[in-house]
Formats: sequence, structure tokens, C-alpha cells
Amino acid sequence: MKTLSLFGMNNEFDRNCMEDGTSIGRGGLAADPMGTKEAWIYRDMSHVWHGFTQMSTFTDWEPIIVESGDGRYLIDVDGKRYFDAISSLWVTTLGHCIPELNKAIIDQLGRIAHSTLLGNGNVAVVELAEQLAQVVPVNSPHFLFASDGASAVEQGIKIAFQYWHNQGAKGKNTYLSFTDAYHGDTIGAMSIGDKGFGTDLFDPLRFEIIRTPGYQNKDWLELAARSITDNAHRIAAVVVEPIVQAASGMHITDPAKLAQLAEICTRHGVLLVFDEVATGFGRTGVLFASELCGVQPDILCIGKGLTGGYLPMSATVVSEAVYAEFLGQNERALYHGHSYGGNALAAAVAKRHLELINSWNVLDNVTTRAKELSYLLEERIRPCKGVRDIRHAGLMCGIEVDPYADVPGKRGKEICAFATRNGILLRPLGDVVVLMPPLTTTAEELEMVVATVQEALVANG
Ligand SMILES: Cc1ncc(COP(=O)(O)O)c(C=O)c1O
Repeated sequence: MKTLSLFGMNNEFDRNCMEDGTSIGRGGLAADPMGTKEAWIYRDMSHVWHGFTQMSTFTDWEPIIVESGDGRYLIDVDGKRYFDAISSLWVTTLGHCIPELNKAIIDQLGRIAHSTLLGNGNVAVVELAEQLAQVVPVNSPHFLFASDGASAVEQGIKIAFQYWHNQGAKGKNTYLSFTDAYHGDTIGAMSIGDKGFGTDLFDPLRFEIIRTPGYQNKDWLELAARSITDNAHRIAAVVVEPIVQAASGMHITDPAKLAQLAEICTRHGVLLVFDEVATGFGRTGVLFASELCGVQPDILCIGKGLTGGYLPMSATVVSEAVYAEFLGQNERALYHGHSYGGNALAAAVAKRHLELINSWNVLDNVTTRAKELSYLLEERIRPCKGVRDIRHAGLMCGIEVDPYADVPGKRGKEICAFATRNGILLRPLGDVVVLMPPLTTTAEELEMVVATVQEALVANG
């Protein structure tokens, strides 16, 4: 049996548990006697394993345990409110507990929660696909639904591979992707993604691809173009995060370069996959970053904001030309599909979400807020000691701070912990402090977020 203090827990709570005879073994607290945050954290870590988190130092960073949401705020088990400045890891668009979105799910629940899309259809999914088809930047789109962003990417790269196979094209069985790319954590998505993100130990599992420098290198386009020219005969697809390489720290490029990349791919007979899992659904000020590039990719991956952050749903969207190659004999079909792909509850909320983005003029709000954010960052954050760089596109922002010499990532964590203690929920990417507030954020809220980050920078500068 482990004692709570081993995990760096609050000692008073630890002693209370011991003294009143309550079991502190794993799972020992059946109903928490106090309802305190500490009690909930203990119950959490007794059974929950958090992704991208060292569980033995989980409590050092004072995690919050959310009980409910209210618009752009999260409310923890002690009733404390936190502004969700990372949109719950970039998924929340309009906010939490939006009555219209809640109602969409409840209404759908009265009909059906889920039925399989393998070989059969569902009204909610058909309606969503019809609506998405009006807005996605893909020519005559067809949608293969899944649940997470990584699955959408995984589907995308398998589709690209089989697209060439079905045409009898020999040897087009690799991909070109970029340094600093992140496409998710399944083996395929991880192979397309770059090293780092703490995943290097999985290198033996990654399959080989062609990798050229990412957006941090100003010559990335020329270097990619050269490699595409030389290797087109073996490249099934180029996979790229348009405009923002988000997870590596918000590295940003000129949209015109992506238009040129698309032209090079077309000219050399290579498919182009745009991964808009992070940039999709308004984060950059338009519905899809592809629009800023003036590009219609062959394959588009969407996820995260698709349901407004309500339910896990993603999709791989392919053009008519790609789709057509899968028609005909049985063996031309795509033998891939997930149990919960095209979940009806998720489809219902995604459809309502699209309507609200439109009727609430959400994209206009993003554009206005993005300008204000740009001003605030230059005015308040750039002059702070220890700020190395500021990068942003729309409401996707990364503030890079100088790392401590001893532990890279520690300063980023400390700044975010400070902000969280002060009611602004942040989570860094190493030494990049990410600001990705919901798309409905107000001017006052934006100012509050930046003021808190400024204070945190001073405190940890
Ligand atoms: C561009 C991009 N692709 C894919 C993913 C993976 O999405 P998920 O975490 O839903 O699997 C992410 C997640 O951050 C992402 O930023």
C-alpha cells in the first residue's frame, strides 16, 4: 500500500485519512468524505493514467479536477473558475455547456446514440456530411469518419497508399513530411510526425519516410520541392500541417508557400494531404487554413473542433478523384473502419456546431480578437525578460521563453502553473507557452489572459 505523501500529496489530507481509519490503498476512498480538491486528485491518480504526463510528479503541478463548464470557463471540484485558455487541448470552439449544442445531443439521444457505418448509414451522419460538403476545401468531398485526429491521419496515409496501388502504380509507397511535424500518436501518424515530443524511444516502430526541414527553415519549400522532384516515383503523398506546425511550438509559414507546394505535388503526380486537425474550424480566422493558402488538398484530415469540443469525432475527407479509385471490384475497397466512426451523437452536435459558427459570426470574432491579441503580445509580452519569440496565426499562439539551463521545459511549466493558480488554465509545449482561447473569447477575457501571462513571466523571468 502506498501512502499519499509518496506522491507529493497534501500531508494534512494524508494524515486525516490515516487518522479516521479510511483506507488509503488504491481505490480505497469509495465516496470522498471531504469533497476537497486533494481528495479528488487522490481518487484520480488511484485509477486514471494521464497522457503525456509523468504520473509520479502529477501532483507537483497542481492539476485541476473539473466538475463542470460554463461558457469559456471550467469549474473545479472546489468551485474555483478557470478561463480555458487552451480550449481543452485545442478542441473547444464556442465554449462549454452551450445550450444549443447540449440540446442537439439530447435531441439525437432520443432517436439513437450510435449505429455502425460499416455497410450501413445513419440519418445524423448523412446530414452532417451534406453540410460539411458545403464548406470543406475539397473538390466533391467524401467523408470517412473516425474518432481522433491521429485516426484521421492514419486513414489518410492508408488511402494515399492504396490510391496508387489501385491504379497499378508500382513503388509509390513512402511519404514526404517535415521536421517539427506532429500528426498524432498512433504508429503511422507518429511515423509521419517528427521525432521529439518525448516519443523517441518508439523510433524502432516508426516506418521510414522522406523528411525535409519544416517551417523553422526559411528554405523549407525549396528543399521539399527538390526532394519531391527527385523522389516523386516513390512518394504516395506529402503530408503537411498547413500554415501552423502547432504541436512543435506554433511554427508558422507564409500561405503562398503552401500554394506552391500544392502546385509542385500536382505537377509531379504526388497526393497532397493537409492535416487540419489543429487549424480546422476557425482557429486561424477562416474555417480552414487551406482557404488562406487557396489550396484544395486531395485529402484533408479534420478532428478536434469538428464537434465544438463536445464529442470525439474526426474525418478523412477525400476528393472525387481519389474516391473514384476505390470503386469497382471488392479488392479496390478500403478495408479500414473504426467501431465508433460516424457516431450519431457526435454527428448531431457537429452539425449544430457548424450552424452556430455561421449564425454567431464566430469567424469575425476570431479575426477581431486575433488583431487585439497581436497588439497585446507586442505591447505587454514581447518586452518581458526571457521572451525569446512570439508566433501566432489567428487565435493560435505560442510564446517561446528561454529555457532554464538545467531542465528544458521547466520554465514553460512554471509559467503555466502560475497562470493556472491565478485562474487561467494553460499547458505548455516545452518552453512554448500556448494560448489558444475559445473562438468566442471577448476582448476583456483576452486582456485578462495576457495580463496573467505577463505576471507569470515576471514571476518566473
Ligand atoms: C495537426 C495535428 N494532427 C493530429 C493530431 C492528433 O489528434 P488527436 O490528439 O485527436 O489524435 C494533432 C493533435 O494535437 C494535431 O495537432
